[in-house]
Amino acid sequence: MGTIILGTGSCLPSRVMSNVELESIVDTSDEWIRTRTGIENRRIGGTGEKTYQLAASAARNALEMAQVDAEEIKLLVVGTVSSHMLMPSCACYVQNEIGAASAFAYDLNAACCGFLYGLDAGDRYVRTDTQSKVLIIGAETLSSRVNWQDRNTCILFGDGAGAAVLGHSDDSERKIIGTNHRSDGGLWDLLYMHNAPSQNPDLLVEDNPGAHIIMEGREIFKHAVKAMEEAIFGLFKKTGLSIDDVDVMIPHQANFRILNKLLERLEIPREKVVLNVMHYGNTSAASIPIALDEANRAGRIEPGSTVLFCSFGGGLTWGATLLSW
Ligand code: UT7
Repeated sequence: MGTIILGTGSCLPSRVMSNVELESIVDTSDEWIRTRTGIENRRIGGTGEKTYQLAASAARNALEMAQVDAEEIKLLVVGTVSSHMLMPSCACYVQNEIGAASAFAYDLNAACCGFLYGLDAGDRYVRTDTQSKVLIIGAETLSSRVNWQDRNTCILFGDGAGAAVLGHSDDSERKIIGTNHRSDGGLWDLLYMHNAPSQNPDLLVEDNPGAHIIMEGREIFKHAVKAMEEAIFGLFKKTGLSIDDVDVMIPHQANFRILNKLLERLEIPREKVVLNVMHYGNTSAASIPIALDEANRAGRIEPGSTVLFCSFGGGLTWGATLLSW
């Protein structure tokens, strides 16, 4: 008995950008990108594919699968760091697009952990109001937030959105089993993005090169593997489960090498792990719900399956979630 996912949805921009295309933009190669990241293609938003538009489309798909009317949604959260406006929130735009007139809506800034943190908030909301339905979305257009002259970052990221509708189940076997989330603001400068320059000269931030991603790739790599491993083993300890109990693992899709190292340490069979980083690159908060929707629609998750999510991102933020489907 607890919170379950009633339906999932996703939406990806139609434009595919290959590694070969990137060779004409920055000094890189298809071979370098494939071997260092596992990424082959990513999607790039075009006209009519702003963050909220991708998010709204993913939300409609999730609502349709859940057979829930948009007006039934009480809470609507969008995990994003790349909305087209700072205010109003992306979530308010989505609310208006899909007609979720009864919802209160807000954005959640936790970088790549936006969807998992949102799932945590949604779970707690449903548990205190079991009649309510909640919509959690991860949506990004990071193509608008990378420096296209910086080969360290522009090759990694992509655009897309994924969504999940949450509700209560009386079935004692089905619920979000537990979460183990952490943050460390002391390491903020390993991965960050500035705001627009301050209009108050006294509050100007020095060395603001513009609102695009800046990253210490190697350091992020090391922290990512260790943090996700600790979050997962911490969650097992908390819940009394082990890696053998996991039927499907859906990690944040950042980099094939990060995931390989993590999977080695977890000793989980590869066929249990959902991977799509090669097709979409790192879509930040959208990566887990996109992979979840693809796995769900492909029939990889069955009633009663134990699903493990884990993520890591700027903040730093990281965490793991276990749910019984
Ligand atoms: O959601 C979390 C978000 N962040 C991440 O997931 C990023 C985690 N980090 C990584 O995935 C890796 O650190 C990268 C893929 C970003 C970089 O791989 P690396 O093996 O750590 O490479 P490096 O940064 O140490 O760079 C090695 C070399 C450098 O050249 P020199 O100094 O050895 O001559 C870089 O300038 O590779 C060069 N390089 C590139 N070469 C071709 C960096 N980017 C590129 C590129 N194409 N795109």
